[in-house]
Amino acid sequence: EDAEKGGYPHYMLKEIMEQPRVLYETYTGLMSSRELEKAAEILASADHIFVTGAGTSYHAGLVFAYFMARIARRPVITFISSEYLAYRSLDHSNSALVAISQSGETIDTLQAVRSFKSSGGRVVAVSNVVGSTIPRESDTTVYTRAGPEIGVAATKTFLTQVLALTSIALALAVHTGSLTKAEYTEAMRELRNASHAASSGIDRSIRLVELLASSLRSKNNIYVLGRGLGVPLAYEAALKIKEVSYIHAEAYPAGESKHGPIALVEEEFPVIFVGVPPEDELLEKLQSNVMEMKARGASTIVIGTSSYRELEGVDFYIDVGNYSEILAPYAVVPPFQLLAYKLAVMLNRDPDKPRNLAKTVTVE
Ligand code: AGP
Repeated sequence: EDAEKGGYPHYMLKEIMEQPRVLYETYTGLMSSRELEKAAEILASADHIFVTGAGTSYHAGLVFAYFMARIARRPVITFISSEYLAYRSLDHSNSALVAISQSGETIDTLQAVRSFKSSGGRVVAVSNVVGSTIPRESDTTVYTRAGPEIGVAATKTFLTQVLALTSIALALAVHTGSLTKAEYTEAMRELRNASHAASSGIDRSIRLVELLASSLRSKNNIYVLGRGLGVPLAYEAALKIKEVSYIHAEAYPAGESKHGPIALVEEEFPVIFVGVPPEDELLEKLQSNVMEMKARGASTIVIGTSSYRELEGVDFYIDVGNYSEILAPYAVVPPFQLLAYKLAVMLNRDPDKPRNLAKTVTVE
């Protein structure tokens, strides 16, 4: 087992560190197959597009919906796969479902696929396991090439899903004319740097995360707040922190924080802000949220792109470098994964096998 961990003390850390390589492999795999074109054809012919998944895969689905609106200019209906019954009475003959599951075996996501197909819909699966049930029952599959993920907490499969899903949004955009061929080529060339962005996110945060974890290890609650693309990344960050460290972490859209969550904030309450592009639209708004929290005595932390250095009232800052909107997730997410990992280790939890959790949930 030690050999399989490649010299790392845990699979989770090994899998976080593998991200630059598997992002590159996913990218080259997508570029040398016809998977994106097939997915784009199905989505282009649908009147309505849905996306579903559970846990981390659902969060990747939220990133997909964001880029579908921004890049492909198509609205997407998002739902957590265990809630598929809400849509069971719809006629799906002109709809497409993007079903995300790294294992390809999650029962709730499989039920959503079956329910959707039985009412005439077409399904695009996004999975990491060739030949698993969800890809077998779908019309086409876009594969991530993350290699086996052993740690129960999804890490490398999340960012490779984000890469595959962003590529699907771009492929649809060029298919339907929202992007010109030249713009598409340029965007795909940019996405090639996902791997470098992940390296930078890891390198720039690895030391600081240690300090941050020391100051957060004694906390009972943490808020993670973001805006725009930062919202699904905040959800994923909070899930990672809670599942491996058992510290209660809750994510909210930052703008929603004053509609309730702020009631809990008192002296030293940690609030982590996720800072992503477009900074010209989001920075000022996030500044107000930082000040609202600061005024209640919160410890304010930012993990974000370099532009967020301008924020006032921040106690601790991890600058991941400056990245465009489509590259930011790869730089911003690894610091959160490392933070969750460090907290688990400091608190003597086993990050690879968190209590009560199974890697793949096959019962409803
Ligand atoms: C992620 O860290 C979790 N362990 C969990 O939420 C997971 O993402 C979820 O069970 C979905 O799994 P899947 O991608 O294999 O369908």
